[in-house]
Amino acid sequence: MTTLNISNIRTQFPALTRTVNGQPAIYFDGPGGTQVSNSVIDAMTEFMRRGGANLAPFFAAGAETIATAQAAREAMRDLLNAKRADEIAFGQNMTSLTFSLSRALSKTWQAGDEIILTRIDHDANVSPWLLAAEERGVTVRWLDFHPHDCTLKLESLAELLNERTRLLAITYASNAVGSISDVNQAVRIAHAAGVKVFIDAVHYAPHGQIDVQESDCDFLACSVYKFFGPHTGVLYGKYELLDELDAFKVRPAPALPPGKWETGTQSFESLAGVTAAVNYLASLGEGETRRAQLVAAMDKIKRYEMELSEQFLRESTTVVGLKVYGITDVERLDERTPTFAISLEGISPSELAARLGAEGIFVYAGHYYAVEVMRRLDLLESGGLVRIGFVHYNTSAEITRLIQTLENIREE
Ligand SMILES: Cc1ncc(COP(=O)(O)O)c(C=O)c1O
Repeated sequence: MTTLNISNIRTQFPALTRTVNGQPAIYFDGPGGTQVSNSVIDAMTEFMRRGGANLAPFFAAGAETIATAQAAREAMRDLLNAKRADEIAFGQNMTSLTFSLSRALSKTWQAGDEIILTRIDHDANVSPWLLAAEERGVTVRWLDFHPHDCTLKLESLAELLNERTRLLAITYASNAVGSISDVNQAVRIAHAAGVKVFIDAVHYAPHGQIDVQESDCDFLACSVYKFFGPHTGVLYGKYELLDELDAFKVRPAPALPPGKWETGTQSFESLAGVTAAVNYLASLGEGETRRAQLVAAMDKIKRYEMELSEQFLRESTTVVGLKVYGITDVERLDERTPTFAISLEGISPSELAARLGAEGIFVYAGHYYAVEVMRRLDLLESGGLVRIGFVHYNTSAEITRLIQTLENIREE
């Protein structure tokens, strides 16, 4: 198998030519949103330049819009390995889609039922369910994580399940500390107890392959702006479930999936970008089908990102006072994404992020909506942590510059 040609990849991302005070900017804020390739920009502008329309079969532009939406569904079907394209619904973002699904799903719950949420999840996979549970008189049980390496206590899942449990909402990977959950195992345990599983794959999607048929999850959501595309959310659901649940929709909207889950008019230019983003990823892999190319591409991305993680973890030990949260063992890199929450002694997270920003190194600070993670680590009140996240267009040289800059800041 070939490896990624990173310099070629970088030429496809115009944003990577940005400079700050004469120095190349370094985008280490991938977990907050990634940059897009020329092919994505072109697809979106082409849609608008040609003249889009609403979903109207009566004339050329409308028919093209229908085809644009269908192509995006097929693309996401390949990325997630869904059985059918109509198991894919689009929406404003993952948060909106999750609120919408939580309202529909919770209509099937009874007072006294239970759901399981995790302490490692982004709040978009917590609050919608908390609010729904409160409304329906449903009890929330929490799956904790190990504070020392920030991995989920999946071994405790079985104890939380009982005959009243209706749902497990779990993240594929933490947007704060990068830990990957064994979602296949989680689904097996939950399904054995007759419990539905909703997976938040927003953070995981740019880092590894997803296979909803293999995991057998009932629902999964992701967001295209986290994997090199535009700001659009994606909801996958098993067709029978999307079909039987009562979606909150306007009366004239389609009665069947996926239309019944898509509120109002979609961002069709974004859907053109969704297909281009998936095709960009597929272009990094080889294979007979787009799915095969995507699997190969995500495998290469994962291996390359593990190299970046190893370099970061090894070099970060040279910076006195630097603490990395989550998995730091270089033998366990396949259990984490290259997303690192760090602290540097003597400087607050927001100050450190601003100092790095001034040097052209873009990182985020705070809780990044992973409120439960920061609370569990007792860092919520003190301003959280600095988050440094790599994606496949980042380089070893950028990490070296990061470490050097951290060293300089510490010395000051
Ligand atoms: C893990 C995770 N879940 C959910 C979300 C929310 O996604 P969206 O912005 O599409 O609502 C984010 C956004 O940062 C995230 O990182």
